[in-house]
Amino acid sequence: MNETINLLLNHMSIRRYKDKPVDRETVNTIIKCAQMAPTSSHFQAYTIIEIQDSAKREFLAKAAGDQRWIKEAPLVLLFCGDLHRGKEYFEGADPEVFSNTESYTVAVVDAAIAMQKALIAAQSLGLGGVVAGGIRNDVEGVAKEFKLPELVCPLFALCLGYPDEVPGTKPRLPQEEIHKIDYYDESNSRELIDKYNQEIKDYYTKRTNGKAQDRWTERCGRLLMAKTRDEVGCFLRKIGFLKR
Ligand SMILES: Cc1cc2nc3c(=O)[nH]c(=O)nc-3n(C[C@H](O)[C@H](O)[C@H](O)COP(=O)(O)O)c2cc1C
Repeated sequence: MNETINLLLNHMSIRRYKDKPVDRETVNTIIKCAQMAPTSSHFQAYTIIEIQDSAKREFLAKAAGDQRWIKEAPLVLLFCGDLHRGKEYFEGADPEVFSNTESYTVAVVDAAIAMQKALIAAQSLGLGGVVAGGIRNDVEGVAKEFKLPELVCPLFALCLGYPDEVPGTKPRLPQEEIHKIDYYDESNSRELIDKYNQEIKDYYTKRTNGKAQDRWTERCGRLLMAKTRDEVGCFLRKIGFLKR
């Protein structure tokens, strides 16, 4: 076990922060690490907006369904998939190509990898954080508030700060369920998921003093149906994504 592996294995989302600012040098290091993430064809199809303005923080927190940590975190970074830059500057590229599904996939994957690098960098410097995809509850409002041009879609906010809680690590699916060899073998899935359901139920019972006792499949189904965000597709097409 080395330091990096230890850091990765101890990931936990942090939603409470000490009243301690993140200095500029640290912010710049975090962004630099995000930028060094691998990126499809070197397109670098994302933009990161640091949200300093408190009214904008309020707006974003509310858009996400009143997620307190978006207001309270010393550092909040809004990650956007960005094909606008490509459309403006990539020489000889047919403008239509930015509207195909593959281009959108590239932008989302690039932004997600960059966010994860930022989070790891921050964690290695003693910070903690949480991703807030809830901002897509009001994807159109967020785009307007942050003056996003066409072909730039808000994906998630990364809230960072010095941790003021230790929520503990959350158990993941049994490794055999997500790591398959040579083909998609699901012969043991039911058994593995039943076992995991019990593990998650025990985890939530302990973490919430019995208030929540959800099984994993139950919780995921409920969360999925609580916010289907069907309007996201329509918004994406309106701003030039996913037309083909
Ligand atoms: C793309 C993405 C969006 C997320 N959105 C939210 C969110 O809106 N609010 C929140 O509290 N946590 C959010 N999370 C955090 C997850 O709930 C969390 O990572 C998951 O429950 C596992 O817990 P852990 O990170 O503590 O291991 C998000 C995570 C990801 C990767």
